[in-house]
Amino acid sequence: MNEPGDARAETTARLRSVPLSRGLSTKLLLLTILFVMLAEVLIFLPSIANFRLTWLEERLNTAAAVGIVLLQSDPLSLSREAQDDVLKAIGAKAIAIRDDNGVSQLLVVAEMPPAVDEHIDLAETDMGEALSGAIDTLLFGGDRMLRVFGPVGDSDKDFELVLPDQRLRGAMLVYSRNVALLSLLISLITAALVFWTIDRIMIRPVRAMTRSMLDFAEAPGDPSRIVVPERRGDEIGVAERELAAMQSRLQRVLGEQKHLADLGLAVSKINHDMRNILASAQLLSDRLRAIKDPAVQAFAPKLLRALDRAVSYSENVLAYGRAQEPAPLRRRVRLRALVDEVFGLLGIDTDSGVDFQNDVAAEFEVDADSDQLFRVLTNLARNAVQAMTADKGIAVVHRLAVSAERSGTVARILVTDTGPGLPQKARENLFAAFRGSARSGGTGLGLAIAQELVRAHGGTLELVESRGGRTVFAITIPDQPVSLEQARSALRRPA
Ligand SMILES: Nc1ncnc2c1ncn2[C@@H]1O[C@H](COP(=O)(O)OP(=O)(O)OP(=O)(O)O)[C@@H](O)[C@H]1O
Ligand SMILES: [Mg+2]
Repeated sequence: MNEPGDARAETTARLRSVPLSRGLSTKLLLLTILFVMLAEVLIFLPSIANFRLTWLEERLNTAAAVGIVLLQSDPLSLSREAQDDVLKAIGAKAIAIRDDNGVSQLLVVAEMPPAVDEHIDLAETDMGEALSGAIDTLLFGGDRMLRVFGPVGDSDKDFELVLPDQRLRGAMLVYSRNVALLSLLISLITAALVFWTIDRIMIRPVRAMTRSMLDFAEAPGDPSRIVVPERRGDEIGVAERELAAMQSRLQRVLGEQKHLADLGLAVSKINHDMRNILASAQLLSDRLRAIKDPAVQAFAPKLLRALDRAVSYSENVLAYGRAQEPAPLRRRVRLRALVDEVFGLLGIDTDSGVDFQNDVAAEFEVDADSDQLFRVLTNLARNAVQAMTADKGIAVVHRLAVSAERSGTVARILVTDTGPGLPQKARENLFAAFRGSARSGGTGLGLAIAQELVRAHGGTLELVESRGGRTVFAITIPDQPVSLEQARSALRRPA
């Protein structure tokens, strides 16, 4: 036996054996990082578009400031060097002003006026254009020439600026990198906070509950292992309370069952010895038959019958007490022959004039354990015979018929008799062990055992009809499912 401490250590070890990578906490951590990053991407797209427009606007503002100063004098009088200096400072190739009539006037221009690749009207750009423009610049830009124009401040004139997008793209890349780093930082912090909180609120209590469940499973009889619920109002609190209540109930039921099992063991020991004693009594009383004394001849058969009943009672109880029926060994069984065998056995028992009628077709097959099916049929048939022979009345027809039909993969066997039908008590406790008997000397185990055996075949046993003159029990047994693989390999095998 393990010491309780050892058991607990083992339990804890089993709990710990959930690898960290598959633990709930890790999954949660990774998911949180993923979701925050996703949210950041959604925020990033409009903000990079905005960044690009603002950057261009600033350039245009500076150009406009220079342009307004230049307008005070004659811009064309500016020397080549001065023009180049101005353009270099702004990072542009040309600055122009446009009046109300849409006529452009060049203020400063590089020596080689560049060819423009893209026109951007700052006043007319909507969000969609801004977004696609930003993505375009980020992914494919860097060597394009832009012409940017739009109103500046309160001025009634539009300004124009021609500039390469190289610096714009550089600034956008730096901005993106910063946003990415910041997003990572934010998601890490958020994930850590979420992780810590969820770990506190959920994972730890769940782990504690799992541990106590394993603890309980190891020794369900030990009251100290019932989970002690924390005072929580949330779902985990409810789960803990329900678990504690369930464990208490289970413990009580287990206690009761243990008492019953102990009692059952004691009864079956007594029963076993009793059967041996009765068997010896049976042997001895057999000799009474030889005594010619009429008084002895009168009571000897009664005594023998009483002993017979007592022995069969003991044997039935012993058989039921045996742990479990073995699993059925199923093969194709010819039902007609099996029914004949059952009738043969019962025919010896009785000379009550019961008419046995085997209506099963000669080729009818059932997929079942033949021994177990034999027992089921014997139990049903014997019940019927017993009921009919007890039913006095010379003119009454006593017939027991067995028939069978098949529907697809399901075989249905009907056991019909012309007896008086099941008494009320038997009906109320149909298939309940020890309680169903309404017959003196009956154990009330026959139908319970029969049902258990049929169920082990995946089938059902039911009382279809029971009234004076006609009682029908139906056994339904489905064929075993055939594994497709097995069937295929059987087909492939050479004959
Ligand atoms: N065909 C039937 N016709 C009338 N009564 C029946 C029939 N089959 C079963 N019964 C009733 O159902 C009761 C329960 O049957 P079951 O076979 O479980 O127990 P039993 O026959 O009393 O005892 P045993 O354990 O020896 O079979 C019987 O006592 C009987 O009263
Ligand atoms: Mg019976």
